[in-house]
Amino acid sequence: MSILNCPVCNKTLSLDEKSYKCSNNHCFDLSKFGVLNLSLNNKSSKKRHGDDKAMVIARKEFLEKGYYDPIKADVISLCKKHCKNAKSFIDAGCGEGYYTADVVSVLKPEEVYGVDLSKEALRYFKKRILGTLPIVASIFKMPFENASTDLVLSMFAPAAYDEFLRVLKKDGIFIKTKVLKNHLIELKQAVYDNPYYNDDEPDEIDGFEKIDEIITDYKTDILGDDIKKLFLMTPYYYKTSKTDQKKLDFIEKLNVNISVKTVVYKKV
Ligand SMILES: C[S@@+](CC[C@H](N)C(=O)[O-])C[C@H]1O[C@@H](n2cnc3c(N)ncnc32)[C@H](O)[C@@H]1O
Ligand SMILES: [Zn+2]
Repeated sequence: MSILNCPVCNKTLSLDEKSYKCSNNHCFDLSKFGVLNLSLNNKSSKKRHGDDKAMVIARKEFLEKGYYDPIKADVISLCKKHCKNAKSFIDAGCGEGYYTADVVSVLKPEEVYGVDLSKEALRYFKKRILGTLPIVASIFKMPFENASTDLVLSMFAPAAYDEFLRVLKKDGIFIKTKVLKNHLIELKQAVYDNPYYNDDEPDEIDGFEKIDEIITDYKTDILGDDIKKLFLMTPYYYKTSKTDQKKLDFIEKLNVNISVKTVVYKKV
């Protein structure tokens, strides 16, 4: 039985050859890349629909160099400790699936969904992790049944806590990685005259009990073009003038702080 819901009428969606259909005959085709678009957004709208191609390629190439591997290792160790029996797994704001792929190979869940607004990112996600279903949808209105999943992961993505609570089963696990005060401060110093530190948001989330955490904190040299790619991955990129962005073109090596916290929550 599918845990997918129709975004129009909320009835269950079932796979019928290359389309998902509900009993009211709303029909959603899988794209030739194997991506399911369940977003009801007006396609012609000028609004950004998740990360664009340049951001996606920059992030993919940067992450594949291994700069963030220590973060991934910590997330995986928390998954092994707390989610060994997860059968269904949703990566909310999954991007190209850099973290999802390793979670899948360690936990081997029966059902894996990547949810993201970026079609570009989801094409790479599908190529990277076979047997999964990448879905174009907002994490603020996810097309899943209530209490249908064992694990929700949120890596550097916006978090829709009420939605995560709704789709998680009783005792389901939610894992979130968030940036700490000094994360990438040197990158911001290289671009801005008055760089700001990240806010220290509290760990407590209504409806969840915090059960574990790991802080991943290290310094690493980012080299050449990778500096620009890292900047393109961040939310600062589109808010920064071309003149400020250009400052990064002349830096050959930047020693940066990577400082994040991964928190494990149980639905209560
Ligand atoms: C910084 S990226 C992180 C991607 C991936 N989790 C990673 O760490 O490699 C944030 C992702 O969230 C997606 N995103 C932003 N707002 C979203 C929303 N409302 N619903 C679904 N995805 C969203 C973006 O398209 C992007 O792929
Ligand atoms: Zn329907």
